[in-house]
Amino acid sequence: MAIDRGQFSSRLGFVLAAAGSAVGLGNLVAFPVMASKNGGAVFLLVYLLFVALICFPVLLAEIAIGRHTRRNPVGAFTALSGGSQGWQLAGMLAILTPFMIAVFYTVVTIWILIFLFRTVTGGLDMLATASAFPEMTGSPGIFPWFILLQVVVFGVLLGGVKGGIERLARVLMPTLAVMLIGLIAFVLTLDDAGLGVSYYLIPDFSRFNGGVINAALNQAFFSLSLGMGIMITYGSYFNKNDHIVGSGKMVAIADTSVAFMAGLLILPAIFAFNPETNPDDLSTSSVGLIFTYLPQIFLSMQDGVGYFGASLAAAVFFALVFFAALTSLVSILEIPISYMIDEWNFSRKKAVLVQAVAVTVCALLASLSFGMSPGLTSFIDYGGGTKSLFDLIADTFSEVILPLVGLFACMLCATRWKEGFVDELTDGDATFKGSVLQRYLSFSLRTFVPVVLLFVFINSVAAKYF
Ligand code: PHE
Repeated sequence: MAIDRGQFSSRLGFVLAAAGSAVGLGNLVAFPVMASKNGGAVFLLVYLLFVALICFPVLLAEIAIGRHTRRNPVGAFTALSGGSQGWQLAGMLAILTPFMIAVFYTVVTIWILIFLFRTVTGGLDMLATASAFPEMTGSPGIFPWFILLQVVVFGVLLGGVKGGIERLARVLMPTLAVMLIGLIAFVLTLDDAGLGVSYYLIPDFSRFNGGVINAALNQAFFSLSLGMGIMITYGSYFNKNDHIVGSGKMVAIADTSVAFMAGLLILPAIFAFNPETNPDDLSTSSVGLIFTYLPQIFLSMQDGVGYFGASLAAAVFFALVFFAALTSLVSILEIPISYMIDEWNFSRKKAVLVQAVAVTVCALLASLSFGMSPGLTSFIDYGGGTKSLFDLIADTFSEVILPLVGLFACMLCATRWKEGFVDELTDGDATFKGSVLQRYLSFSLRTFVPVVLLFVFINSVAAKYF
């Protein structure tokens, strides 16, 4: 969720905004795909361990850096490092990354919007066919939706309705959670759903490999909005007297719960609709998986509630997913916008307009890479195959770069800002200093967290590009 310069009025304001940013397509779309691809329960287990042991310290480090410096990532890195140019460059990466994420995130949000529209106009049965997704992504019919989405997104960013979005988030986010629970309960009643539950919850350690580690860490970073300047920027609006640690816990728990629920919905559905599914074949799953199974879940409700009832449920659900994506998209774009305002002295209006044009052009190009432009569809060869422009952006900026920026943030805390970091977290929470958690954070950020992040970064470069 976007924020004005100034401060969050309350701790809840921060938690809502940060959770609004964190809960998005990463949880609802990417997480179930990653879990099904990477061995189900082993992925879930490694993911949960990473969130608790690695990502939580990084989350607190980023919020603390932001609150201490009250600057955007470039300003923050520069200030804490005493004006070092190298660190300034590292900060720049935390501006470029959210921009590039916004590019592919825009494309996926548009798919959700189209699904919503098709459902509302009675086409749920068409969506449930295997060809619906490739036809949608590969046709020029998606262009008008760019205009609609960008008007909404940049309208929100220009100001005025942010308060409204925050109020809406208070109602819609819990509604999303309740609806997820209802859908899970429904899917679990379907025959053979149990096969998916076992795949998702009972670890088969023979499926564990280096790829699972990479995928889980990258997914956790993306989902928690880490390694891209968001939490630094949000931290810069965080009130001095509030607890960073307590708020960070709430954000991490909310985000992880939604991801967990999305997995518990989709993986059982895969097996319920295709009982012969061989888990080994799931390793090639892609985003299309969600866009095929979600309509099928709703369509299968027909027997109970009729076609209209099923379409209505689907429409409400897609609307909620769209809203979750919107709050995330707005938060992503806030980073380059606030950078331009702070460092280039742009007015908010100018910064928003420049971003709007830049993101729209790049997102249009990315959307052409689903068949409409052969050159962009087979854009580049790496990692043993031909990749599209969209793949290149998504691989690089949602996976490879995130652990690197996270590494920079903890190196800054560990080397240039040791004592200050603990003091910052103690502000607003006097019991923190000397606690077990404090000792864990100080130790982990100086030792194994950077090591794991470096390992995953190198591993991702090797796995993705070579
Ligand atoms: N964390 C959001 C999600 O899971 C996406 C996001 C990425 C938000 C980067 C902000 C920054 O969908």
